[in-house]
Amino acid sequence: MITPRRKSTIACMILAAGKGTRMNSAKNKVLHTLLGVPMVAYPVESARRVGSSTIVAVLGHQMKEVAKGLADRFGADRVTVVEQKVQKGTGHAVRLGLGPLAGFKGLVVILCGDVPLLRAETIDALVAKAKKTGGLAMLTSVVMDPTGYGRIVRDDASKIQSVVEHKDADAAQRQIAEVNAGVYAAPAEFLRKATAKLSSRNAQGEYYLTDIVVQAAATIGVESVDVSAEEMSGVNDRAQLVAAEKILARRIVGEHMKRATFRAPDAAVVEADVTIEADAEIGRNVVLRGRTRIGAGARIDDGCILTNTVVGAGTHVLPYCVASDAVIGDNNKIGPFAHLRPGTDLAADVHVGNFVETKKTRLGRGSKANHLTYLGDTIVGEKVNVGAGTITCNYNGFEKRQTIIDDGAFIGSDTQLVAPVRVGKRAVVAAGATITEDVRDGALAISRAPCKQVDGYADRLAERYGGKKKATR
Ligand code: UD1
Ligand code: CA
Repeated sequence: MITPRRKSTIACMILAAGKGTRMNSAKNKVLHTLLGVPMVAYPVESARRVGSSTIVAVLGHQMKEVAKGLADRFGADRVTVVEQKVQKGTGHAVRLGLGPLAGFKGLVVILCGDVPLLRAETIDALVAKAKKTGGLAMLTSVVMDPTGYGRIVRDDASKIQSVVEHKDADAAQRQIAEVNAGVYAAPAEFLRKATAKLSSRNAQGEYYLTDIVVQAAATIGVESVDVSAEEMSGVNDRAQLVAAEKILARRIVGEHMKRATFRAPDAAVVEADVTIEADAEIGRNVVLRGRTRIGAGARIDDGCILTNTVVGAGTHVLPYCVASDAVIGDNNKIGPFAHLRPGTDLAADVHVGNFVETKKTRLGRGSKANHLTYLGDTIVGEKVNVGAGTITCNYNGFEKRQTIIDDGAFIGSDTQLVAPVRVGKRAVVAAGATITEDVRDGALAISRAPCKQVDGYADRLAERYGGKKKATR
């Protein structure tokens, strides 16, 4: 049992026990993600934002997995999970959900696990209405096609009398365009009494939560708050999933565009947890995932895909770079076509150029690796120049081994550094070297077969094949 913090007057309940049959998925519907976040996390996030002390989720199908999804995101104890083994209807679900709220005297907000577009501001308005009237407040919407929804039945004075489910509605009631969004706010006390009285005598043989509306109309009163059809729309299949995701994406980008420029707002994908600072510029087809953070004035060019990556202020990431779990410092120049893998940590003023791959690698301030290079398990000091085609040989088939390149060192092109190995301060490694031992500070390391020349060789070769070779072009 949970004792809500005394100050908070609202608790939220999220109904998500259903399976989501129309997804045709091995995975519960509410675990499908929108912009990298599971669907069920959206109402939980809104519940947090409206200041709910207690959040109860009513789960059934794949309860363990859904509960884990919530714990991963919000912490183990943030959401109280109640199991509804058999889905006997929304009214039954709410009755179970009230279990952990036994001593709670404030307002309970009921949300659905499959309505990710509902805004916290709308819930605020609903809560405000319930507080003001002391009655039941519910979200309703006038929609083009009300098929499937519960219809709002009002009397001559336009007071809400009841909700009739589509399957129970007669022809005249089916003409009603105002529908129930399935989101409510009501005093806990009322919900406890009202849900105890529900029956399942209806077309679906379920305990309808909507039957509390008649009870409220006769006692504490019912008021509605209008919500747009878009915001209240539920996700039932994959087409609706991506449609909702698109709307969320537009909302998120719209929010970022108050301070950052998006060259193609409709073609950018920015997940919910990404932060972008002022004057950043985001190119076409850029994907920013997870907890990526873009610093002030940074420029992310076309086609970059950054996951859980920090980009420092003033850094320019050129087109088609891929970075995951990487930290890119201030005023870097990255790419085009760079691949920064997990554990990459770049200080300020670093350049990482085309076809360079880094993994578990630190580059100190002012260091450069501009062309065709692999740096794995490497610590690079400051102002190091890593030449084109440098490869750290970090794996011997059994374990990963470390390379250290100290401040000011110069690594010539086409060098292999066979780890574990260290190149000392200001050491110079000559082009084409295979370095298998530590290089002393300030020394030149050269490992190269002597270069030999054979004069007249081209003619001798041609003679051997019966005459001078013809020019091929
Ligand atoms: C419900 C409303 C309907 C409203 C519509 C809005 C009822 C009886 N009807 O209908 O008036 O227009 O929502 O979308 O409430 N759930 C459980 N346990 C259950 C049944 C449902 O947890 O036993 C959960 C579902 O997982 C879902 C939510 O409750 O998240 C709504 O259930 P759903 O079956 O989609 O309700 P509708 O029949 O669409
Ligand atoms: Ca249903």
